[in-house]
Order: sequence, then C-alpha cells, then structure tokens
Amino acid sequence: MRVLSVASEIFPLVKTGGLADVAGALPGALAREGIAVRSLVPGYPALLSASEGFEAVYSYDNLFGGPAQVLSGTAVGLDLFVLNAPHLFVRPGGLYGDAGGRDLPDNAQRFAALAWAAAEIGRGLVPGFAPDVVHAHDWQAGLAPPYLRLAGGPRPGVVMTIHNLSHQGAFPAGLLAALRLPPSALAVEGVEYYGGIGFLKAGLYYADRITTVSPTYAAEIQTPEGGMSLDGLLRTRASVLSGILNGIDETVWNPASDPLVPAPFSARQPRRRRLNKAALQERLGLDGDPTALLFGVVSRLSWQKGLDLLIEALPVLIGAGAQLALLGSGEPTLERGFAAAADAHPGRVGVDFGYDEALAHLIQAGSDALLVPSRFEPCGLTQLCALRYGSVPVVSRVGGLADTIIDANEMATAAGVATGVQFNPVDRDMLKAAINRTQTLWRNPKDWSRMQANGMRSDVGWGRPARRYAEIYRGLAQNSA
Ligand code: ADP
Ligand code: GLC
Repeated sequence: MRVLSVASEIFPLVKTGGLADVAGALPGALAREGIAVRSLVPGYPALLSASEGFEAVYSYDNLFGGPAQVLSGTAVGLDLFVLNAPHLFVRPGGLYGDAGGRDLPDNAQRFAALAWAAAEIGRGLVPGFAPDVVHAHDWQAGLAPPYLRLAGGPRPGVVMTIHNLSHQGAFPAGLLAALRLPPSALAVEGVEYYGGIGFLKAGLYYADRITTVSPTYAAEIQTPEGGMSLDGLLRTRASVLSGILNGIDETVWNPASDPLVPAPFSARQPRRRRLNKAALQERLGLDGDPTALLFGVVSRLSWQKGLDLLIEALPVLIGAGAQLALLGSGEPTLERGFAAAADAHPGRVGVDFGYDEALAHLIQAGSDALLVPSRFEPCGLTQLCALRYGSVPVVSRVGGLADTIIDANEMATAAGVATGVQFNPVDRDMLKAAINRTQTLWRNPKDWSRMQANGMRSDVGWGRPARRYAEIYRGLAQNSA
C-alpha cells in the first residue's frame, strides 16, 4: 500500500508547530504497518538544500505563475517529493507570512500549487508511483481533495486531517479561475465558504474520510462553540470523521539518550532530573533552588494557548514559592507581558522568546511540571513529551489535553493512576486553583513520584495511532479496488 502525504511542514526540515512533528513522524510509524508513505512538501529554501541530488521526475512550464519541478529523493530518512517552484516558495520571512508576520498576498496560489501537484501525483503523474491514498493535512493541502474529485476518472482515496480548525485558508471568490476551479464548484456543495473560497472547507467537503487529532476535539468541532463555522459541515460528515490521537517520535524524545539533555535519565533514575533542573535554572537565570516547584512552558504565544491567563495567575504561582521557565514566540503583547513578569520577579520567572529546540528539550527534562492552559487544543504534543520526560502536565481539560492526561483527583490518586492535573473551565481562577493544587501535590513526594512514574510509563508513541490510520487507508483502498 502506497500513500502520498501532503503537508506544508515536515520535521526536522521545516517546522512552525506540531503539524511538522506529525508529518515527520507518521511515515516511519506507518512503514512498520507495511505502508509506504511519500511526503509532498513545498520547496522552501531549507527543503531545496536538503534535496540536493534529488531527481527531477516531472517539470511544469507554468505552475501558478512560473516553472516548477517535482523532485524525488530521500533525506533524513524521509521519502520526499519536493515541489521546486521558486516563484512560490523561495521568499524572505516565514513559511506563510512576510518578515512582519503578515500573510503573503499569494498564499492562495502557493498552496493551490501544492494541492494541484498532489492531485496530479495522486492520479499517476510520476511514473512508477501511483498512490492508493492521498492524505492531505490542514488547509494548505485542502484543495487536493477537490482537484482529485472534480477531475473525474479513476483516483486514489482521499483523507483530510484537521490539525487546527482555526486556520482555514479563506480567500476571495474572484480567485476561482486563477485557482483552476470550475464555476460550478463555487457552491455550498463545493468549495464555497461565506461567499469566498475555503481551502479547508473544500477539503472537508470532498474528502472520503476526515480525521482530526484527538477524539475529544473530533466531538468539540461538531458543536457551534468549537466548530469555528465549520461545525454544520462536520456534523453532516460525522459518519466519516474520526479522532485519532497524535503520538510523539520516541527516538527524538527519549530522555535516556537525548543529546540535548545534560543528564540523560529514565523512569528508573528520575532523580537524575535534578541535574537538568539545575541546568535549566541556570540557563534562564532562575534561583538555583532544588525545592521550588519549577513550572515549564514550551509554546507558540497565541490566544489559543491561554498564556494571557498565566500572566494573570502569576502572582499565585510566585506567592506559592514556585518558579516559571518559559520558551515561546509569537504575539508581541504576550512577549511583552512575560518580559515584564521576568523583570518584576528576577530569579523566579525566566523567559526566552526564540525558537530553540535544545531549550525545549531542557525544559521538558528539567521542569517539575509543564503548564498547558489552552483555550482549545486539537491534540497538543508538549504534554506528551512532558509525560515521557517526567514533567507533570498541568493542562486545561479540552481537546487532546482531555484525552491524554489523567487528572489527580482523589480517586485517581488513591488508585495510583493519575498522570497530571486538569482544570476546566479555562479561566484565570481555575488556572490559579490548578496551580495551587499542583503545589499541594508537590509537597507530597510519594504522590508526586507516583504521578511522575505513571506519566513516564504512558504509551505516547505512534504505534497505536499508526494502526488506526492504516485501517482507514486500507478501508479506502478496498473501496476503490
Ligand atoms: P501547536 O502545533 O499548536 O503549536 P503542539 O503542542 O502540537 O502545538 O506542537 C508544538 C511543537 O512545537 C512541539 O514540538 C514543541 O516542542 C514545539 N515548540 C513550540 N514552541 C517552541 C519554541 N519556541 N521553541 C522550540 N520548540 C517549540
Ligand atoms: C496543531 C494543534 C495541536 C496539534 C498539532 C499536530 O498545530 O494546535 O494541538 O498537536 O496541530 O496535530
């Protein structure tokens, strides 16, 4: 069985968030299920460097405004098709925006091109590679399902995965012809979305199967509160929608062999974490106090992540004698808020606003608890890393956070099965209460160690989820056979 995965990011080559982690790790896990995945990714500069020596397997004279090639090869263990289209993907700034963070004006054409190439490869454009399934991730790949379906004729099965419903790829209707879509597609039963063209909406409408990254998020997005205007469509497609939890790459995230961690450790020697805690405190200018409960945060700084609530709850955290180590980048107002907190509480609040893989690992390995107070969270990966690294997750009870953490309520603690702390509703006062509850648990070393050990033994790998994706692929391949 052969699958073409289409994603705009892939770890370790290009990443802004969890989508990259998933796109980078799932192929390896599926290989163990006997499924060969090849990933189509945009030819950003980092991808072009990684694909030196790749073979050009197809050339376009004009793909949405310029010449392009499909390059094929293997890099860092990933089988790739790289869409080399410099007019679309070689730009200063980020993957989707300019240096000032504004969306690029031709994002519609850029990602339509990715989806167009995906659909053509799906229909056999590259000799010797005809996939049974095309798997499109998020809005950037959202036009692949309509391009495949509207062309007519034989085609592979199509899976659309939602990693985050808040990014929808909505563009003006006037682009219809430029995006090579027929006038008839501009309909409710088509690509139309609030009078314009919706890339994610289109993908969800035309896909054979829809998945999202946790069972709770799959339920939340079918409600008006969580559906971000797509709940109606998702309810009508409920029979083909599944929630499959993400895993983490257990070779990248292995505390016993992690080269980014000063003192590697395992569930058998959790006390070695103290060395990492000391290193983390030093790295972020925190007091070298082994007894202070050290909370960590590794996150994009956006409204989704609820970190404005943490700024408001900080007096409680500091008042209880705890510390905060935060790594995050994003919204300037949040950066300013945390910078002010670090100034106001020297030695107690340490912050870094870069994107720093090594510090992310050090926070997981050295913090005592990891805070994830998200307003919504499709899955969340950092709490899974925290479980594996013995940092106790303190999370809001939403989306994938609800599905992956066992709250230390009285019964779970008595039964010895708790792995973290959950709170809901997601507001400042409940976050404060959760911080206080965590502090109480911290003062009871027996319960704390049990929670930590339970977390480190949790199955956070890709084995189980990969089997679920494999089932979906096999079901589609059977139907189209
Ligand atoms: P999202 O995809 O919504 O940002 P996830 O929890 O699914 O959230 O994934 C976030 C990923 O990005 C994790 O692998 C996390 O370690 C990483 N990450 C987030 N912010 C940073 C940062 N500033 N530096 C390094 N890694 C980060
Ligand atoms: C998105 C979500 C996050 C999820 C990730 C990978 O970025 O915000 O919750 O873990 O995708 O699926």
